[in-house]
Amino acid sequence: MDYDRYDRIRAVQWQGDHLRLLDQRLLPQEERWIDCTSAAQVTLAIKDLAVRGAPAIGIAAAWGVVLAAKQGEALDGALAMLRAARPTAVNLMWALDRMKASIAKGADATALEREAQAIQDEDLAANRHMGELGAALIAPHSGVLTHCNTGSLATSGFGTALGVIRAGVAGGRIDQVFAGETRPWQQGARLTMWELVRDGIPAKLIADSAASHLMRSGAVQWVIVGADRIAANGDTANKIGTYQLAIAARHHGVKFMVVAPSSTVDMATASGDDIEIELRDSAELLAVAGRRTVVEGADAWNPVFDVTPADLIDAIVTERGVIERPTTKAMQALFGR
Ligand code: MRU
Repeated sequence: MDYDRYDRIRAVQWQGDHLRLLDQRLLPQEERWIDCTSAAQVTLAIKDLAVRGAPAIGIAAAWGVVLAAKQGEALDGALAMLRAARPTAVNLMWALDRMKASIAKGADATALEREAQAIQDEDLAANRHMGELGAALIAPHSGVLTHCNTGSLATSGFGTALGVIRAGVAGGRIDQVFAGETRPWQQGARLTMWELVRDGIPAKLIADSAASHLMRSGAVQWVIVGADRIAANGDTANKIGTYQLAIAARHHGVKFMVVAPSSTVDMATASGDDIEIELRDSAELLAVAGRRTVVEGADAWNPVFDVTPADLIDAIVTERGVIERPTTKAMQALFGR
């Protein structure tokens, strides 16, 4: 795998005394960096989607704890504030629990810095391994559809679903990638296309509403997505629109793959019904790029994640291995409990 070509973007960068984040709200028009020097600034960056994607917000939050420790802040308060930034992606809680466990063992700021770096490094290693495992499931010369952004921007690097796509393209298994726009934040249009074009990967953007028509055409053999939380029975929360892709995929005989590190697996949550789905401001739907597109007085409902039931998923790929046709038993075998 040519990582020099396919793994060049680092959106979350620890600078020794502050955290640099590539502001994902401005891409692809502008590559502007935000320097965070406090846990409060990191919390705001997560809430406002300057940094987003389940693994990336966990990593950023871990660095937020380091900043709090360096500034002598009360760590309990910093942990609680970061934890409340967004509700659905369990990687956030997972990373903060790891930092909390280090604090409980008496870690000082230097030891916490080592722990945050370990969280970031392990995520990259997991992504590279999942890339190999996921790509191996794909027949040569396939077409694939992805949703949202699961690439380097959403992780420590390389990506989850986009890592599988990168590995699949590099290995000759994927000839054509389609990416859904992902309304309303346009993570597919603004971020995934930016990553794919930078890597020279043949990719076409589609309107979210073109997905079933695309599947019916026979141009894609796999839908490949990431996850924000995978429950103990394999039900998977991911970006809004994922569920309807899974339904359409099953109808058209297209396979459906979820790619996520074990930090996204939440064995304490029995099923998708128990996953909190983030509701964001209706204003995000009522305007495009800051310009109001809907009549004044109109309201909107804006859930930003949905749950795909396990029985619509053909494979869950994690760094610990692949689960085909997930069940609680198969999940327990890999993740315990
Ligand atoms: O609201 P976002 O942009 O944080 O949502 C991101 C997603 O839904 C991703 O698919 C998921 O976090 C996996 S990222 C590797």
